[in-house]
Amino acid sequence: MKLAVNIDHVATLREARGENEPDPVAAAVVCELAGAEGIVCHLREDRRHINDRDVRLIREMVKTKLDLEMAATDEMLKIACEILPDVVTLVPEKRKELTTEGGLNISQDKKRYEEFIRELQSKEIAVSLFIDPEPVNIDLSVELNADIIELHTGKYANTRTEKDQINELSKIAVTARMASELGLIVTAGHGLNYNNIFPILNIHEIREVSIGHSLIARSVFTGLQKAVEDMLSIISKNR
Ligand code: PXP
Repeated sequence: MKLAVNIDHVATLREARGENEPDPVAAAVVCELAGAEGIVCHLREDRRHINDRDVRLIREMVKTKLDLEMAATDEMLKIACEILPDVVTLVPEKRKELTTEGGLNISQDKKRYEEFIRELQSKEIAVSLFIDPEPVNIDLSVELNADIIELHTGKYANTRTEKDQINELSKIAVTARMASELGLIVTAGHGLNYNNIFPILNIHEIREVSIGHSLIARSVFTGLQKAVEDMLSIISKNR
């Protein structure tokens, strides 16, 4: 199972102060050095975290695979065709949401998605559709000639009872198998963390997980002790 790291929230921290650190471009390099096999970033319409400069530089720096998450808008299509990420993951986007709330509603606008996907593929960009784990979405993804589907694990991650968890996991497993048998590459993501990832690892059709928030959150604590020690060392040596 491959790990793709979503670095959006490094940029969230930068934007909290409107400064230029921490830099998500540097974060992408560190993640790759640590063994991540892909870097994901979401360029939102409102540029609330990742911005155009980040995407351009991340494209230059990433050596594994750059997956650009974006909404299916004309503006984003133009940017993707200029930047040429390895993969574009199409996600629904709402202005007021804190994070992507659900999978794509492909059936609503099938023709537009079809043209959008064709346009990206004509630039040799693989297209991934972020979908809820429902069989109808797999059929639609095949119809639209997507290369990859990313199964939305957010509902699974938010379950509170064992029964609901089993139910959501079985939807993920069934749709992963169905998609794989139909020739789609299967990935998964959203809300995965150091506790809930284990059952996902048992679903062998899932080739990659995309993880952001929990990983960046953990890095605060795994790195905080050293950051304090470094500052204390500067203070004690220079007074
Ligand atoms: N996959 C997609 C399509 C997403 O939109 C996100 C959130 O940006 C993720 C994966 C990562 O989710 P999380 O930050 O909860 O790990």
